[in-house]
Amino acid sequence: MATHKLLLLPGDGIGPEVMAQVKRVVAWLDQEGLASFAVEEDLVGGCAYDAHGAAISEAAMAKAKAADAILLGAVGGPKWANVPYEARPEAGLLRLRKDLALFANLRPALCYPALADASSLKREMVEGLDILIVRELTGGVYFGEPKTILDLGNGQKRAIDTQVYDTYEIDRIARVAFDLARTRRNKVTSSEKHNVMRSGVLWKEVVTAVHAQDYGDVELEHQLADSLAMQLVRWPKQFDVIVTDNLFGDILSDIAAMLTGSLGMLPSASLGAVDAQTGRRAALYEPVHGSAPDIAGRGIANPIAMIGSLAMALRYSFGMGAVADRIEAAIAGVLAAGKRTSDIRTAGASVIGTEEMGSAILSELGKVD
Ligand code: NAI
Ligand code: MG
Repeated sequence: MATHKLLLLPGDGIGPEVMAQVKRVVAWLDQEGLASFAVEEDLVGGCAYDAHGAAISEAAMAKAKAADAILLGAVGGPKWANVPYEARPEAGLLRLRKDLALFANLRPALCYPALADASSLKREMVEGLDILIVRELTGGVYFGEPKTILDLGNGQKRAIDTQVYDTYEIDRIARVAFDLARTRRNKVTSSEKHNVMRSGVLWKEVVTAVHAQDYGDVELEHQLADSLAMQLVRWPKQFDVIVTDNLFGDILSDIAAMLTGSLGMLPSASLGAVDAQTGRRAALYEPVHGSAPDIAGRGIANPIAMIGSLAMALRYSFGMGAVADRIEAAIAGVLAAGKRTSDIRTAGASVIGTEEMGSAILSELGKVD
């Protein structure tokens, strides 16, 4: 069995608390002979700043580059509100995304049946929901130049953000979406606003060309981003994979997330390009939530988003989709048994802490096969 290099970066706040539960699952996988890991650990965020004066050390960056997959907890907190801008906790995460060129952000919205009543939509709208939003993460209006605020000298200022996309950026994110669709229900919805944005025109053109060239077997549809937002809350089950730019993806993935429950439930992946020579791909997996300073240190954080991030690592970095399914089935089983952390509110459920939730998932894992 291949040994996978896994780097754990627990980070700040509840990060180490939820990562502790991932470590138990990793140990269980090892012990059951389901996977073999070489696990390393390092600091990122505020704790790294306290230790080294930087939000990630060069040594940790080197480990990140050597790893087959990185699992990150969360960074930040009020303790570091006044550290220099370049050393702020988020800088560690941004450096990882940039240096590893993690251009594809995957945000699943998966509705566990037991939580269908916790959704903002009716049960029949979300029960069985399983969509995957693929967001372009390193281009678009968040990074395009010029990006500035000009003083016009007449008491007015002018703010400029620029949406920039090159063909290769759209091409590579489209391929990620089509490849993923092939492992799922074989459908991609591409979203932009070609009716009012030049970048939308190019986006649609390139996605259409990539489809015609290499992915004729996958169903492709185009939807304007505003209409897609509406459809997401009207009838979300019509979607499988949604591919879109950085800005629209930011918003649409948050909408999709809230269809399925709490922030404490949501994993994510950020992927780089596959290296043509080695076949390796940089990948970072992390919960969508932050360091939750309001509940840190109390042992009540929900570890499911973090454990779900491990499942994504198994599926997308290690080719272990069946084991990932098994972890998700264990989570579903625990929820079906009425166990909840305090962030998930449903009637009649019993509220347990981080460690107990970890134990419940482990004991369920022993059962499902
Ligand atoms: P947050 O996601 O940390 O917390 C928002 C709310 O959700 C809080 O009430 C929190 O208690 C709750 N929550 C979050 N995760 C939970 C979990 N696993 N279990 C139970 N409850 C959970 O976002 P917030 O409060 O805006 O930011 C707090 C800090 O985290 C800030 O320093 C922020 O910069 C940082 N942050 C870091 C992120 C990252 O590392 N990727 C992402 C978002 C925020
Ligand atoms: Mg967001």
